[in-house]
Amino acid sequence: MAATDLERISNAEPEPRSLSLGGHVGFDSLPDQLVSKSVTQGFSFNILCVGETGIGKSTLMNTLFNTTFETEEASHHEDCVRLRPQTYDLQESNVHLKLTIVDAVGFGDQINKDDSYRPIVDYIDAQFENYLQEELKIRRSLFDYHDTRIHVCLYFITPTGHSLKSLDLVTMKKLDSKVNIIPIIAKADTISKSELHKFKIKIMGELVSNGVQIYQFPTDDEAVAEINAVMNAHLPFAVVGSTEEVKVGNKLVRARQYPWGVVQVENENHCDFVKLREMLIRVNMEDLREQTHSRHYELYRRCKLEEMGFQDSDGDSQPFSLQETYEAKRKEFLSELQRKEEEMRQMFVNKVKETELELKEKERELHEKFEHLKRIHQEEKRKVEEKRRELEEETNAFNCRKAAMEALQSQALHATSQQPLRKDKDKKKAGGWSSIYSVTIP
Ligand code: GTP
Ligand code: MG
Repeated sequence: MAATDLERISNAEPEPRSLSLGGHVGFDSLPDQLVSKSVTQGFSFNILCVGETGIGKSTLMNTLFNTTFETEEASHHEDCVRLRPQTYDLQESNVHLKLTIVDAVGFGDQINKDDSYRPIVDYIDAQFENYLQEELKIRRSLFDYHDTRIHVCLYFITPTGHSLKSLDLVTMKKLDSKVNIIPIIAKADTISKSELHKFKIKIMGELVSNGVQIYQFPTDDEAVAEINAVMNAHLPFAVVGSTEEVKVGNKLVRARQYPWGVVQVENENHCDFVKLREMLIRVNMEDLREQTHSRHYELYRRCKLEEMGFQDSDGDSQPFSLQETYEAKRKEFLSELQRKEEEMRQMFVNKVKETELELKEKERELHEKFEHLKRIHQEEKRKVEEKRRELEEETNAFNCRKAAMEALQSQALHATSQQPLRKDKDKKKAGGWSSIYSVTIP
């Protein structure tokens, strides 16, 4: 036998022996002590409502808790889905409930709905992260910590009577490992009884074929196993919400009044509102809280701690050392940092080289352009020079012609100014002015 096996056997705890008591001791009051402590501490319950704008989320919440929560109507023009939590202190008998209702405002209103689920997933994770951070604190105070983790997601399905929209399937698929989903058909008074029956079957079929895990009411506790099993078969609940009171017989009941009749919210022949209230509040509220902590939060915590380098030691291996993990993580982080730095440096060098090449290419192009322009300029200059020479020659020729003309003109003028003088002499010779004219003019 190996040494470790021997060690394990010797370390194994002995089975505790059963003894009977001689009389009443008092530890049978432990459950009562627990109840009393919990009641003093109060409870928190957080509901996430996901459904299209105006599907009846606020009305259903008001109907469920028989009060009026202050809510604003959402517009249909939100750019993206926004989570709006509101917390209320409620009291019933001596039990205090800190209720948070989180509305997914603007859900289904965007043209591109690809990422509609993301803000919802991020919100759920952020609440888990807050809780984990509190747990990891040296001085943690989980006792009075306001737990904001989502305990249930009421998914409001539009009563189309056809099938689930792809947005519904994608969103529920993304949420099912993070939160307890209870799908409900909203405004069930707008769909006929036979259509509703077929619609329910269709929805459940689609959820199963797409592998969407919805919350199943637990059947392991004998006290509620039967009712829960029956209710599981009724999912998704078809609900009607109303805060209006209508007189039916001699009783005032919450209902929706139509010209053809009255839909009573709490009448099980009219809708499944009572079933939802029973399952959500009166029977399974604690299981929803439990499941959130032991299943969904546990999954988140495990992934996060593994990411941080924590690991469980099995029986054979050395116990897990936080110091070693820290050192290993630090080394890993530093080498990652170095790698990133080197990568960035290389990227920078490459960028500089690329820019240099680009600049050189630009310079060469500019130089070519300059040379080209220079050649054009020289050609133009040469042409202008030629033109100038031609013009000069023309001007010279013109000037020569002009000078010749002027010379001719002056000669002609000179000649005409000489003619009267000669005529004068001739007249004198002829003896009178009239005889001159008659003689000289041909
Ligand atoms: P936003 O918060 O603006 O997204 O709306 P909402 O989902 O909270 O819906 P809200 O409860 O404000 O209801 C919108 C309208 O639907 C109101 O006129 C309600 O009276 C009506 N309504 C609510 N529940 C039901 C229902 O079960 N059946 C019918 N027919 N109408 C309902
Ligand atoms: Mg609302």
